[in-house]
Order: sequence, then structure tokens, then C-alpha cells
Amino acid sequence: MTVLNLEPDMNDAALASDPTKAVPVFIPDGVFAEKVTEVQHYTDRLFRFRITRPQSFRFRSGEFVMIGLPNSQKPVMRAYSVASPSWDEELEFFSIKVPGGPLTEHLQKIQVGDTIIMRPKPTGTLVNDALLPGKRLFCFSTGTGFAPFASLIRDPETYEKFEHVIVTHTCRQRDELKYSHDTVENTLNDPLVGEVAQGHLHYFPSTTREETQHMGRITTLIETGELYEAMKIAPLNAETDRIMVCGSMAFMKDIRTIVDKLGFHEGSNADPGTYVVERAFVG
Ligand SMILES: Cc1cc2nc3c(=O)[nH]c(=O)nc-3n(C[C@H](O)[C@H](O)[C@H](O)COP(=O)(O)OP(=O)(O)OC[C@H]3O[C@@H](n4cnc5c(N)ncnc54)[C@H](O)[C@@H]3O)c2cc1C
Ligand SMILES: NC(=O)c1ccc[n+]([C@@H]2O[C@H](COP(=O)([O-])OP(=O)(O)OC[C@H]3O[C@@H](n4cnc5c(N)ncnc54)[C@H](OP(=O)(O)O)[C@@H]3O)[C@@H](O)[C@H]2O)c1
Repeated sequence: MTVLNLEPDMNDAALASDPTKAVPVFIPDGVFAEKVTEVQHYTDRLFRFRITRPQSFRFRSGEFVMIGLPNSQKPVMRAYSVASPSWDEELEFFSIKVPGGPLTEHLQKIQVGDTIIMRPKPTGTLVNDALLPGKRLFCFSTGTGFAPFASLIRDPETYEKFEHVIVTHTCRQRDELKYSHDTVENTLNDPLVGEVAQGHLHYFPSTTREETQHMGRITTLIETGELYEAMKIAPLNAETDRIMVCGSMAFMKDIRTIVDKLGFHEGSNADPGTYVVERAFVG
């Protein structure tokens, strides 16, 4: 463990709120200590932030890492999907703010220049390698479950593996869709991936508790066929389609029931299949 007792005259944003006080920063052994480069708040429950990327840190688009704040000798570390693609020189995260949450009640206050700690080993099943080859990739998400797909849709490899990438994001309210909306728009205009994504990346947002163009849980819209009608696409077909799912446990359970009935079978890194799931949070 490294404990840095920052002096008041040090140029560190951790001191910005009270420049007269030294702030101890605890860096446990074996973790990366990175700087926040950007923070954007969407709602009182959601925000996104970017940090510097350690040169030696490698991950596959769609994986998650453990992150925390250097604010205690035993810092709270939580799983976070890396929302940026594997080629990006920074790391992006899309975060909830849980009132009284051990990590996020502090994390939501971070500012540019603050330190984030990160364990070095990424992992996860929402990776292209865990799926058999296919024509269309469906990414179904609710809430912060969009985060791994923000990574995958910005990775040119996804478009090498799949002809069409269909990303759905369902939230309670309109404002909660802004991150996915902006990420898709920026991807289509991106100098690196825009060209391969245009005409191949398809976005379907829906809300359940505020009126927007598409209303309803994605599970309902699949079962009624409204998803296919609205997007003018053929229904799910286990022969040629592949699926990734990320959201709450209840959502994952319901979508599993639907896709199992349609003949899809779950895959893993060790045994690729026609669909993979990952929870976006526990509880
Ligand atoms: C594999 C995996 C990947 C994850 N990726 C992300 C991510 O990219 N972004 C993210 O914000 N969180 C993610 N989480 C959740 C994250 O690990 C923390 O739970 C979250 O940051 C809240 O931490 P906390 O300590 O403040 O509260 P916790 O004690 O961890 O959670 C308190 C309660 O808040 C609720 N909650 C926690 N996380 C969420 C969430 N994301 N959305 C809605 N309700 C939630 C649950 O009811 C939970 O019981 C992921 C979790 C797992 C298991
Ligand atoms: N989002 C908010 O404004 C808000 C505010 C305060 C507290 N919270 C709490 O925070 C926690 C997480 O909230 P969240 O909004 O991030 O996630 P969430 O409750 O999982 O909801 C996200 C989206 O997923 C949908 N959904 C939920 N269960 C589903 C299922 N089984 N199948 C298909 N779709 C499903 C929801 O639709 P439905 O609307 O139909 O459930 C909603 O559109 C909850 O405990 C909630 O009570 C949320």
C-alpha cells in the first residue's frame, strides 16, 4: 500500500474543494492509479466519466474491471463494464449513482484530475469470442447494462464478425437514454468506426414510464413482434442471429426464457454459443 500525504501546495484536484487540507490518498499494491479526464452527468442517477489508460492495460471490448476510489485503506471496489472500445487511449465508464451506495455516493462527486484505482485484470462474457459466428448481433440492454455495448459498437472487429449490429436500450425515462443515443450518434460519425458502422449499426431505444416514440419493455416488444415491425427486420432466428444481454437479474431471467424457447443456447468464453448474458448489477 502506498499512502501519499498530499501537501497543500501540490497541484492536485483532490485538494480543489479545500486547498488548505492535505488529503491522504491510499493506493493498494497491485492496482493502477489513473486520473479522471472527463465527467458528464445525465440525470440525478446516471453519469459517465473517462480516465487515463495504463499503457500495459489490455482488455477485450465488452469486458469489465474492478474500480474504486483511493479514499480508504480498504477501498470499496466494484465491477464496472469498460464502455470504451479496446483501441481507445482512455477508458470510459457509464455509472449509476445509488443514494448511500458505498462506492457511488463518493464516485458521483469525482472531478477532472481526481484519482480512480483499478485492478489490472479484466474479465467478462459479453465478448465476441464467446459467440459462434453469425449474421446479426442483437445487444439487449436495460439501464447501465448499455455500458458493455457502448464498447462493442465502437470496435471495428464487431462489424467484421457481424453484418448487422442491433442495439436496444430500455430505461424508465427519456433522459436515461441520452448516453446510448449520443454514443450511437458519435459512433456513426467517428472517423475510425463511422464508415464500418454506417448502415450496419441499428439502435432501438424504448422507455417504460415516460412517453417516447417506442414504449414498453424489450421483452414485451420481442414477444408481440413490435420490435421487428418498428425496425423493419426479420424476427430472431437461432440459425443466423447471435445475442448479448446486459441488465438487471429480473430482465436477464425473462429474456433467457424467451431466447431459450426460440432455440438459442448460452455460450461462454470456454464454450461459445448463440447467446451470452451478464448482469449489470447485483440485487
Ligand atoms: C459484472 C458487473 C458489471 C457492472 N458494470 C457496471 C457499470 O458499467 N456501471 C454501473 O453503474 N454499475 C455497474 N455494475 C454495478 C456496480 O458494480 C456497483 O454495484 C454500482 O456501482 C453501485 O455501487 P455502490 O457501492 O454505490 O452500491 P452497491 O452496494 O454495489 O449497490 C447497492 C444497490 O444499488 C443497486 N444498483 C447497483 N448498481 C446498479 C446499477 N448499475 N443500476 C441500477 N441499480 C444498481 C442495486 O439494487 C444494489 O443492490 C456492475 C456490476 C457487475 C456485477
Ligand atoms: N430509474 C429510476 O428513475 C429510478 C429512480 C429511483 C430508484 N430506482 C431504483 O433503482 C433500481 C434500478 O433501477 P433502473 O431503472 O436502473 O433499472 P430497472 O428497474 O431494471 O429498469 C430499467 C428498465 O428495465 C425494465 N425492466 C425491468 N425489469 C424488467 C424485466 N424483467 N424484463 C424486461 N424489462 C425489465 C424497466 O421497465 P419497468 O419500468 O416496466 O420496470 C426499465 O425500463 C431499482 O431498484 C429502482 O427501484 C430507479
